[in-house]
Amino acid sequence: MFKLLTFALLFISFFYILDKARCNETVTRDALLKFLAELSNNNSTILGTNSGWNLTSEPCKDNWLGVTCNMKTLSVEKIILDGYDFSSGAFDATTICNVEPIADTFVFLSLENGLLQGKNLDSIGRCKHLTHLFLGGNRFSGSIPQSFLRLNNLKRLDISNNELSGVLPDLSRISGLIEFEAQNNQLSGEIPEFDFSNFVAFNVSFNNFSGLIPPEGDRFPVSSYTNNPLLCGAPLARKCSSLSEDSESDDHDKPKSSFSRDEILMYSGYFLIGLAVILGILLCVYKKRKQKKQKKKESRIEEMKKMATIYHDTTTSMDQSKKGTSNSDISSAVISSNESNTAVSQSLVVLTSPEAYSGLRFENLLKAPAELLGRGKHGSMYKVMCDNPKMTLAVKRIKDWSISGSEFKKRMQKLNQIRHPNVLPAVAFYSSRQEKLLVYEYQNNGSLLQLLQGIQRDQTFHWSSRLSIAAGVADTLAFMHQELQHDRIAHGNLKSSNILLNKNMEPMIGEYGLMSIAEISTTTTTSNSNYVFPIADENVGAIFKQDVYAFGVILLELLTGKVQNNGIELASWVVSVLREEWTVEVFDRTLIQEGASEERMVNLLQVAVKCVNHSPEARPSINQVALMVTTIRDEDDRSIDASASTSTII
Ligand SMILES: *[C@@H]1O[C@H](CO)[C@@H](O)[C@H](O)[C@H]1NC(C)=O
Ligand SMILES: *[C@@H]1O[C@H](CO)[C@@H](O)[C@H](O)[C@H]1NC(C)=O
Ligand SMILES: *[C@@H]1O[C@H](CO)[C@@H](O)[C@H](O)[C@H]1NC(C)=O
Ligand SMILES: *[C@@H]1O[C@H](CO)[C@@H](O)[C@H](O)[C@H]1NC(C)=O
Ligand SMILES: *[C@@H]1O[C@H](CO)[C@@H](O)[C@H](O)[C@H]1NC(C)=O
Ligand SMILES: *[C@@H]1O[C@H](CO)[C@@H](O)[C@H](O)[C@H]1NC(C)=O
Repeated sequence: MFKLLTFALLFISFFYILDKARCNETVTRDALLKFLAELSNNNSTILGTNSGWNLTSEPCKDNWLGVTCNMKTLSVEKIILDGYDFSSGAFDATTICNVEPIADTFVFLSLENGLLQGKNLDSIGRCKHLTHLFLGGNRFSGSIPQSFLRLNNLKRLDISNNELSGVLPDLSRISGLIEFEAQNNQLSGEIPEFDFSNFVAFNVSFNNFSGLIPPEGDRFPVSSYTNNPLLCGAPLARKCSSLSEDSESDDHDKPKSSFSRDEILMYSGYFLIGLAVILGILLCVYKKRKQKKQKKKESRIEEMKKMATIYHDTTTSMDQSKKGTSNSDISSAVISSNESNTAVSQSLVVLTSPEAYSGLRFENLLKAPAELLGRGKHGSMYKVMCDNPKMTLAVKRIKDWSISGSEFKKRMQKLNQIRHPNVLPAVAFYSSRQEKLLVYEYQNNGSLLQLLQGIQRDQTFHWSSRLSIAAGVADTLAFMHQELQHDRIAHGNLKSSNILLNKNMEPMIGEYGLMSIAEISTTTTTSNSNYVFPIADENVGAIFKQDVYAFGVILLELLTGKVQNNGIELASWVVSVLREEWTVEVFDRTLIQEGASEERMVNLLQVAVKCVNHSPEARPSINQVALMVTTIRDEDDRSIDASASTSTII
């Protein structure tokens, strides 16, 4: 009876909008120049002579001072202009963040120690994708506007050493925040109830905050709170003598409690999701009842048989060319698996933002046909096609992962906070003791593995594409490693079949953080479709160095055009050939025919060989790897530009 009451998937949305087409550099340039003109009061010489920042050069291609771009899409990601004298200028983020090519990719702004003044920080709310905002050491005054709450991707915020006053908006609503520095201002009112468990840095000393320090605030030392005469509670020695006194005096300071438009939208979004879930469950129960009445034993047996064929007839994930094409119901797939397992807890968590809730309904997902894409050592991947609205999802099912439900949930939420445009985000997940399900947006353009396999079938895979995929993956991993260092979440199972391609053929790293190395090494089965890493050390550094090894194998695959089930074999083959100094033998012949620069191929090979070093300590960090690979890629880009311009002159 109960066995049928398992509802796997729901979920709901697409917040992930694939990268926009290449950006218009003219628009970007004009916006940046306007931003600087405001900051510097029309004196761009403030940045010095060779900074770029003029009408005859381009921000990304010409490497403007303080501007960091995604070199593939030529879109601005970071602006760092610390320590320039902007004392006669003004800050206006609308100049940059109202401009689409920038606003969509712009994540990092730092204007520290610039003596900037003014009351208008309101415009910052336009830069919705910001993850890092550093405005310390200026002379901003007035209060922090409510528009800061729109920065819901923010992770690090530094507004220290300014002249800010008034009550903070409820920044605890920005759930991903891990750093808040506001020391040396005149801020007052209560400290928002931050979830300090994720914080890595916090300082509100030398202000005029009052009332009780929120729970867990004592994770930070006294020096994070000193010189706020009205503040009390741990870690300060001052006890909160009379609560009523505090709350009375602060009441008028508190942020307005009436709902704003955003809040209403947000809550009604939650309400709708809740409603959809309940409706879905009811519908599903109804459907199952009906089914049960109608279907006789035979039809059930038939269903089971069908499932079994799907399981047995399909190839492993390393051989995706022969896809199982039978239609099956993903929900029944889950149900049949739980029949034998008798799952205990069933919780389904939707990782989504209400505004992206796009009208897809639960029952549509349940009805949708599913196709088994591949099966690896730890789980299977299904493609689920929904009709209404039309969308295709990839559902990963992992069996026997020895992670507790709450830890898994925490991990998924953590990963959801850290968004990178080149990491495929999960849209929803489900967790029971025996299995975990993850729902992703399906990527139509296949995987890196398929591109590599295509080489054998005479499909071209150009050197420049290989380089830009390598650089994209390295950059993305470097970002993820940095963000997830404290949480010790590495990718854990990086391989070419996990590197998907979005519609601009940019790499999207899939299945991030689904396995930790320790877990991989404890579950051993006969399949060899996953890499078995030579080292399974428990220490944190080693966890991340496993990703470096795996990335090295991917570089080798890109260079040799060979794909092998076992990464170690490829690595040791390459190393043995190099020992005999037959470097050229190693490379994919089509690259040599294409006329790819041998020098850069050798440089990339050297990076790869460093990555696959047996000793984790000897492997470079992913930051170093990313730097080396992007340098090679940039050199290659420049040489293409150069040859293109000479040929047009001729
Ligand atoms: C970029 O935008 C400007 C102004 O909108 C337009 O004049 C120019 O043609 C665009 N360039 C490209 C390559 O789209
Ligand atoms: C900068 O100069 C432009 C025209 O050259 C003018 O329109 C603008 O108001 C000036 N901005 C400032 C901050 O002085
Ligand atoms: C522009 O800035 C430079 C460097 O800070 C300064 O020397 C120069 O006097 C400024 N020019 C004007 C017109 O303010
Ligand atoms: C614009 O910046 C580029 C790059 O720094 C520089 O080569 C060029 O001379 C500058 N042009 C002008 C007009 O200042
Ligand atoms: C500090 O805040 C309290 C109210 O919380 C206010 O009465 C007092 O004037 C403030 N002091 C300063 C120096 O701003
Ligand atoms: C907080 O800021 C104050 C003032 O700048 C500084 O003295 C103190 O060391 C800081 N404390 C922490 C924990 O960062």
